[in-house]
Amino acid sequence: MQLTDPESYRARIQRIMISEEELKAAIAKAGAEIDAEYAGKPLLLVSILKGAFVFLADLSRAVSIPCEIGFMQAQSYFEGTTSSGKVSITLDLTQDISQYHVIIVEDIIDTGRTLSLVAEELRRRNPLSLRILTLLDKPERRVVDLKADKSLFTIPDAFVIGYGLDCAEYYRNLPYIAEYAEN
Ligand code: IMP
Ligand code: MG
Repeated sequence: MQLTDPESYRARIQRIMISEEELKAAIAKAGAEIDAEYAGKPLLLVSILKGAFVFLADLSRAVSIPCEIGFMQAQSYFEGTTSSGKVSITLDLTQDISQYHVIIVEDIIDTGRTLSLVAEELRRRNPLSLRILTLLDKPERRVVDLKADKSLFTIPDAFVIGYGLDCAEYYRNLPYIAEYAEN
């Protein structure tokens, strides 16, 4: 998609669903909870690129205990509409996670397919513990049995953009979550 015309770019931002203030408040609370639960433990926050990069940047600054940051990128392949598939890790962690309590920091859980495969792979590496924290959850769309340990916002089945989330690579830099519409 070539979306260099500012007017049509803006016109596709249908409405703000979650404001900057709401995001900030929810993330501050999540950071304080992580401080309380993981103090004194080796903690690794793992973000799955690209969508979760903004959430991780803000969440990590809402955490005040020592922690490490790691990035992964994954490509998943599914046959038809089946819920099983293969995941290939195209960017991997540098840490040996058997030494860490790991929190997967995700932008959105939609069908849940990719994240369930990534979580399975990380579980195989025997972390001290593994939890999933997602900014957004679209439970209506789930096709696999995957539940986040914590989700900051449950949203209806709409396509959303901003705060890391894209449409054809655009809109990741919006400071809020908005509903997308082509009109
Ligand atoms: P799934 O849970 O395996 O279906 O895939 C989730 C991924 O699809 C997320 O990490 C996003 O990158 C992308 N995704 C799902 N829903 C949306 C949306 O509403 N807007 C933008 N990206 C989305
Ligand atoms: Mg993602």
